[in-house]
Amino acid sequence: MTAYWDAFFTLHRDLPREGPGEPADVAWAVATAGTAPTARICDAACGPGADITALRAAAPQGHVTALDKYPHFIDQAQRAHGTDPAVTLRTGDMADITGPFDLIWCAGALYFLGITEGLKTWRDALAPGGAVAFSEPCWFTEARPQEAADLWSGDYPAMTDAKGIDARVRAARYRTIGTRKLSSAAWENYYAPMDARIAALSSGDTPEMQQVLAEARREAQVWRAHRKSFGYLLSVVQPDDL
Ligand SMILES: C[S@@+](CC[C@H](N)C(=O)[O-])C[C@H]1O[C@@H](n2cnc3c(N)ncnc32)[C@H](O)[C@@H]1O
Repeated sequence: MTAYWDAFFTLHRDLPREGPGEPADVAWAVATAGTAPTARICDAACGPGADITALRAAAPQGHVTALDKYPHFIDQAQRAHGTDPAVTLRTGDMADITGPFDLIWCAGALYFLGITEGLKTWRDALAPGGAVAFSEPCWFTEARPQEAADLWSGDYPAMTDAKGIDARVRAARYRTIGTRKLSSAAWENYYAPMDARIAALSSGDTPEMQQVLAEARREAQVWRAHRKSFGYLLSVVQPDDL
């Protein structure tokens, strides 16, 4: 591992979540999708597993399969959920999931595959009546503050607005059933523990750690300054032919 990634994972190790989110998002998505209490759910790119408790609560007689490509996150999720027989955890690539699933939940990660490409890939993993719920970086205003545009042009140049997300959904032959903006509380669930970790590491003794800390500080600062202009949009979508 390079010194940069070593520093990156030192910052991110054992944080409660790796992106914005809150249990109310899961409850809303499940209600919007009409997911049954017996549902088979996939948490695709689960990170440390922050949403597993809410997904289990949404489908108490169902099953949650959670996967992420980084074993460290799966180990962390295993410590919290490893004794629950209704939870299967594994390291793997979300491009390869097979199902059948009644709901594929993907918080802050579908853009790694591309919305259209990922939804097409998941079509065959969905059971009849199944749905995908995903949260995605999104511009909320026409005006794009320069420092936010600069940040996202480096991190995710293809970031678009709600219409653009819907167009990518339709290009995969899905339809959007509902959308919801993630709340400020959802973002602080991510940034508040990150602030504490940054403070604990602030004497960072390598240039790589100083770089990683500066990037993390900037990301939170830009969101707090411009939260009206951009955020995450949660979409619940279904294939046209289901
Ligand atoms: C922004 S984090 C979100 C994690 C988690 N859903 C959460 O909200 O805390 C993105 C996650 O995507 C995972 N990831 C990226 N590409 C992946 C892939 N192809 N298959 C599985 N996981 C992937 C990363 O390891 C990381 O945990």
